[in-house]
Amino acid sequence: MPSQIDEKQSEIVKSIAAEVRSRQLGEGSGHDWSHTNRVWNLALLMAEREGSVVYIVSLAALLHDIGDWKLFTGGEAAGQAEVRNIMVEAGVDADSINHVLTIISEISFYGGGTPRPMSTLEGKIVQDADRLDAIGAIGIARCFAYGGSRDRLIYDPDITPRTDLNKAEYKANKGDSINHFHEKLMLLKDLMNTSTGRSMAEQRHAVMERFLADFMNEWNEAQSHATDADVNLA
Ligand code: NI
Repeated sequence: MPSQIDEKQSEIVKSIAAEVRSRQLGEGSGHDWSHTNRVWNLALLMAEREGSVVYIVSLAALLHDIGDWKLFTGGEAAGQAEVRNIMVEAGVDADSINHVLTIISEISFYGGGTPRPMSTLEGKIVQDADRLDAIGAIGIARCFAYGGSRDRLIYDPDITPRTDLNKAEYKANKGDSINHFHEKLMLLKDLMNTSTGRSMAEQRHAVMERFLADFMNEWNEAQSHATDADVNLA
């Protein structure tokens, strides 16, 4: 049985959910409130099956993108300070604050060449939930929303995917959105921490495989009808 959440904890979770929701509503890069809400719900579903501390899983799921290096202009340290502030304001105890901050610092993906193991079951669950929302049909939609928010091309055939990037290279990498499937999204299925996450990832992975095959077929179909006029523009 998962450890249940008491009334006081439940109130704290609700107040933090309201705070995060107000900050993320209308965010356009795929890290909006609906993403956080899905990660929260997926994490709760996994917490039930895997038997972990629901309170910590809820807090970490709700706060996981608040200090994200991709989104928070003040950098990682400022992001962590912000997350700590929100929890202090809401009345979270010191041990739980430290556990949640550890999860959040461990959770980000820094390229296929930089594996970062999660140190607790609660962290493994939240990371799996975040990764599940990055793959499948929703993952496809979020990938292009994020790419668009960073002025990335949908696809550039001249860019070769790299799955061995270190943290600095991954951060600096411009890439295109299709490339992002090969450098990150298609790797996530094999990086899931929990058995629940692994089985849920299978179907979502298959959706992306079909999508990429269809995308390339359509791309190549159009290319095969290129005229001399197109060639002269290059
Ligand atoms: Ni996220």
